[in-house]
Amino acid sequence: MVCAIIHVMKRSGGGNVRKKDITREIAHDEEFLKIVAPILGSNEFKKRKNWKHHENCSLYEHCLIVSYLSYKICKRRKWNYRDAAIGGLLHDFYLRPWQNRVHEKVPFFKQHGFVHAHEAMENAYKFFPELMNDRIANIIERHMFPLNIIPPKYKEGWVVTYADKRLSMDVVVNIKALPKYLGLARFIYNVKKFFRRR
Ligand SMILES: [Fe+2]
Ligand SMILES: [Fe+2]
Repeated sequence: MVCAIIHVMKRSGGGNVRKKDITREIAHDEEFLKIVAPILGSNEFKKRKNWKHHENCSLYEHCLIVSYLSYKICKRRKWNYRDAAIGGLLHDFYLRPWQNRVHEKVPFFKQHGFVHAHEAMENAYKFFPELMNDRIANIIERHMFPLNIIPPKYKEGWVVTYADKRLSMDVVVNIKALPKYLGLARFIYNVKKFFRRR
């Protein structure tokens, strides 16, 4: 399976994902839109349009693009593209926007990067129980591998994990922002504070 995943990654290219192009493609893909319609139409999911994810991207856009990339890769391989689309769309379906909460006191392993995948999985069951199954739950809960050390169980989960990382690579351009996206911002903040006091 690992070889198949590497092959998929090579075939899907290494360049930047152009948001404009992909959103235009999504708008014309009726099969994809039919699969994800119950989620895109829900008010709870729409709230993510106002939650910032990366520098120029809302959480809504991020999840939609991860979902579509995963759907396309899995469809090409004749894997379960329906579950990949739903798992991709709900992979960051956590409860609250977190980017302004980096100064809150939270134990290291309770920080966003470590806990949001499990939170998203539980939230997905809460809002879309009729769409969920074991594979989708695993796709969502394991998408933060390798930061969360248990890897995805299904190949569709590897695809979503890869699509998420690939889209997040634009953050590397701004290296100072990286800890924030890994959920380690508070840790870095405390280390800085410690050295400032000395
Ligand atoms: Fe995530
Ligand atoms: Fe993500």
